Amino acid sequence: MSVSPERDTQLTERGNPLRDARDRRLPLIAGPSSMVMFGVTGDLAKKKLLPAIYDLANRGLLPPSFGLVGFGRRDWSHDDFAQYVRESVEAHARTPFVETTFEQLRGGLRFVTGEFDDPAAFEELTEVVGELDRTRGTGGNHAFYLSIPPSAFPQVCEQLANSGLNTPQDGSWRRVVIEKPFGHDLASARELNDVVEKVFRPEDVFRIDHYLGKETVQNLLAFRFANAMFEPIWNAHYVDHVQITMAEDIGIGSRAGYYDGIGTARDVIQNHLLQLLALTAMEEPISFDAAELRAEKEKVLAAVELPTDLAAHTARGQYVGGWQGGEQVKGYLEEEGIPAGSTTETFAAMRLDIATRRWAGVPFYLRAGKRLGRRVTEIAVVFRRAPFLPFRSTDTADLGQNAIVIRVQPDEGVTMRFGSKVPGTQMEVRDVTMDFAYGASFTEESPEAYERLILDMLLGDPPLFPRQREVELSWQILDPITAFWAEHMPPEPYRAGTWGPDSAHKMLARDGRTWRRP
Ligand code: BG6
Repeated sequence: MSVSPERDTQLTERGNPLRDARDRRLPLIAGPSSMVMFGVTGDLAKKKLLPAIYDLANRGLLPPSFGLVGFGRRDWSHDDFAQYVRESVEAHARTPFVETTFEQLRGGLRFVTGEFDDPAAFEELTEVVGELDRTRGTGGNHAFYLSIPPSAFPQVCEQLANSGLNTPQDGSWRRVVIEKPFGHDLASARELNDVVEKVFRPEDVFRIDHYLGKETVQNLLAFRFANAMFEPIWNAHYVDHVQITMAEDIGIGSRAGYYDGIGTARDVIQNHLLQLLALTAMEEPISFDAAELRAEKEKVLAAVELPTDLAAHTARGQYVGGWQGGEQVKGYLEEEGIPAGSTTETFAAMRLDIATRRWAGVPFYLRAGKRLGRRVTEIAVVFRRAPFLPFRSTDTADLGQNAIVIRVQPDEGVTMRFGSKVPGTQMEVRDVTMDFAYGASFTEESPEAYERLILDMLLGDPPLFPRQREVELSWQILDPITAFWAEHMPPEPYRAGTWGPDSAHKMLARDGRTWRRP
């Protein structure tokens, strides 16, 4: 996946995959550029974005001519900002702290103080990026990272346009990076997009869904399309159902302001889980070019059908206090900043069907939640039972269904479950598992999702960034569910540390199935 025309040609060439294989494995290094970060004092920047930039520098993937400009209200000098970046890196970077790497990066750190609607601050910003172009050689290539609430997008975009910062000159580029939530329903997603695309060309808008930056998620493509043995059984003839789980053991922490009124479905199902569904269910793209990959994902999202009985085939919950990891934890309503009687869900589950020849009749069950039994994200493809078992029923009493489980995190890998004979004189068959674990097969540690995504954005490499149509299709799926919930289905309490409300279990029981216990 890459930008350079040369590499794009290689990737779309299907003739000789081994040609230039050595060149293709060389890591791509970002070109001269700078990144302006709005919301640099926020949690995401501190814990993920700044450390990821340092990690890229430490891996030699950023050029010496790289600049990073923080924009915010704090009355900081460039040195104050450098100290802030240093602390964030020391506390959260994946790779070890190397003084020379940091010093190199530090040479390109700048800070601009101002409000998002202050023309004078944007004038100063224009001067600062110009200065970086001259002194650091950033080449007029500037990315604007909006790690800020969507309500502030209009102001920032307007100022960027007024100051001309959105307009590239002499073959340079200008890009904008936006973080979810991309709206809170279809209508607001469209409005938000209009605001951004008034100022930046669609191909210069990079929407971050950090799940797509995860190694294990990209491995879904390799697992399905680099192997001969899985694709023939990846369809309704063999698959009974699919379960996609994103369980977190944490509560909402200090994010009440963001989370309340948003809830699990909008926070992670609209983006992360529907992207996982699309990658699991899509047809093989003719190449991994952005347009081809996105088109296949969009076809799946467009073919999703909702259950007719939403009360029976969706579930919605809110955690109440309980015990987790030996610690007593608060309920959602007792968390700081949550209004009394809030009906925001912290657990969501739903059955979706995909009306295509490949998937007709195969339910995809999605569930996500906070304060669940443990932190785990996985995609489990559960197969139909063998049509006939030439054993006595007692010999196969414990036999489950075959399954392939893609373990996205934390224990990254793939598990296959199948029946095996128990040693002994009887033909007793029981489930066993066969395991691929990243840690056991590779010596390289997986980069953080943001490392990959920031690098791809600087390279102008778009396949891992959803385009607006995917965002809209996802809201189209979710809107009827959230509307139904708002009117008819307040969240059902579940105790922290459990696997969600009773209704989630009943939802699967109705279909004669059970959720996996990861
Ligand atoms: C974010 C959500 O997108 O993903 C958070 O807003 C959630 O609520 C987080 O905690 C989980 O990310 P990860 O990478 O830890 O699974």
